[in-house]
Amino acid sequence: MNNAIHSFSRLFKRPKEQPQTYKQKIHDVIHYDGVKRRVLVTQKALPYPAGELVISRVDLNGLITFANESFVYLSGYSLAELIGKPHYVVRHPDMPKMVFKSMWATIQAGKKWRGYIKNLCKDGTHYWVYATVIPNYRGGKVVSYTSVRRQASAAKISQMEADYQVMREKEARQ
Ligand SMILES: Cc1cc2nc3c(=O)[nH]c(=O)nc-3n(C[C@H](O)[C@H](O)[C@H](O)COP(=O)(O)O)c2cc1C
Repeated sequence: MNNAIHSFSRLFKRPKEQPQTYKQKIHDVIHYDGVKRRVLVTQKALPYPAGELVISRVDLNGLITFANESFVYLSGYSLAELIGKPHYVVRHPDMPKMVFKSMWATIQAGKKWRGYIKNLCKDGTHYWVYATVIPNYRGGKVVSYTSVRRQASAAKISQMEADYQVMREKEARQ
């Protein structure tokens, strides 16, 4: 192996700690397609791999067609578990519905969307990102969407935790 090429898995290892040491909560989530899932939420944040971009691509139906190494690492799923699955597999119950509504409306209108997302890992931990989602054109038509994410600052994360709580409470009253 060429040592000059950085090996992601050598640099970043998921913490060995068991999620059982954190307060755990089971959430029942219902997705846009009617699928009901039971997810584990520990509210333990996973450190973002410094300097890395977290990238995934979906088809027009929101099914994952590509995930880079840092996405696979952070999600805690294997690549095989992610490919072909709806992107909501990493949806955190703390994310307000209207964030994704505005994302899809923007990208389906052919525009770029930017925003903060809290994603849920397989083991119930989470990570925050600042995402840029773009439509990919081929022959003048949108054929897929790509999300490129970078690290969110601690200040932004605490602001967004508060903002999203207000949005969730508003959604719960509707
Ligand atoms: C390119 C792309 C990337 C996305 N990345 C995420 C993501 O990282 N986390 C997430 O929860 N949803 C992501 N979504 C949105 C999901 O498709 C979905 O709308 C969202 O998880 C809410 O799904 P639900 O309302 O069915 O629960 C992404 C969508 C696109 C088009």
